[in-house]
Amino acid sequence: MAAVVVSELRKTYGKTKALDGLNLTVPVGTVHAVLGPNGAGKSTLIRTLATLLRVESGRAEVTGVDVARDPDEVRRRIGLLGQHAALDEDLSGWQNLELFGRLYHLGARRAAARADELLERFELAGTGRKAVKAYSGGMRRRLDLAASLIIQPQVLFLDEPTTGLDPRGRTEVWGALRSLVGGGTTVMLTTQYLEEADQLADRICVVDHGRVIADGTADQLKAKVGGDRIDVVVHDAGDLRAAAAALAEVPGAGAVDSDEDDRVVSAPVADRMSALSHLMRALQEAGIDVDDLAVRRPTLDEVFIQLTGAA
Ligand SMILES: Nc1ncnc2c1ncn2[C@@H]1O[C@H](COP(=O)(O)OP(=O)(O)OP(=O)(O)O)[C@@H](O)[C@H]1O
Ligand SMILES: [Mg+2]
Repeated sequence: MAAVVVSELRKTYGKTKALDGLNLTVPVGTVHAVLGPNGAGKSTLIRTLATLLRVESGRAEVTGVDVARDPDEVRRRIGLLGQHAALDEDLSGWQNLELFGRLYHLGARRAAARADELLERFELAGTGRKAVKAYSGGMRRRLDLAASLIIQPQVLFLDEPTTGLDPRGRTEVWGALRSLVGGGTTVMLTTQYLEEADQLADRICVVDHGRVIADGTADQLKAKVGGDRIDVVVHDAGDLRAAAAALAEVPGAGAVDSDEDDRVVSAPVADRMSALSHLMRALQEAGIDVDDLAVRRPTLDEVFIQLTGAA
């Protein structure tokens, strides 16, 4: 059985089609990333699945339960980490968790035990007695995550779990998420970062304008967008065309972009190491002076351009 099934889901705000016939299936026990730019419809999707928004048209099921027909039952089976934290700043981490436990009718004893357990699990035991306002971004997000797990949900929805965190905070949250998935929970998360989807997800669907425009494993998507990219910054703008030609000759290179203002030529490549050595030789032979030469991951913008074919 699938943990989440969404079919032809639509939601409009005035003239904006936040969800425009979206289809999606998430198998049980997997991590599914919904990748998309600002305004793509990610939060609308998550909030609909978490029963916070009414289904306007189409169908959404969580663990086989229809979201529109039986929202109470859906709520019993899910956890939600919203885009904005729902913690009480003046309470300690432990007090926040204990409070959530009581909200879920765990009873005083079990709520307290669960708070201890979750602080331990998310490596917050040392700071659990401090007020949340003294927490770093990464600690806060981990506490948030702990709060969404009070009742051990079958499906956990995470809306941009790491947006706004520094790299260290992001790594911490990723670690916490991975340990969770080991426990068998199905996770559906939204992100604006290709790298994050790549790190965490079994499958990724790319959403734009309320529709899924591509989906597959990270490798499949990367193959589609050409994997790594090589950027060459030439010293002399007059060499730009020759550099573009050299890059186009690299085996496995995709379409070459040139940017005159920044003196950069750039292209997706299949095999980074062989492409780099091939290109360096070609540039040298052509006598082109280079200010910088770098291999990097495609940015989200480039992924979208490749997937949508829009310039
Ligand atoms: N309550 C609302 N009223 C009016 N328009 C809304 C409302 N909520 C969302 N929208 C619009 O619906 C579209 C999708 O919004 P949504 O919040 O789902 O996007 P998102 O992918 O989560 O974006 P972000 O990355 O910025 O969080 C956007 O155009 C947004 O402006
Ligand atoms: Mg959002």
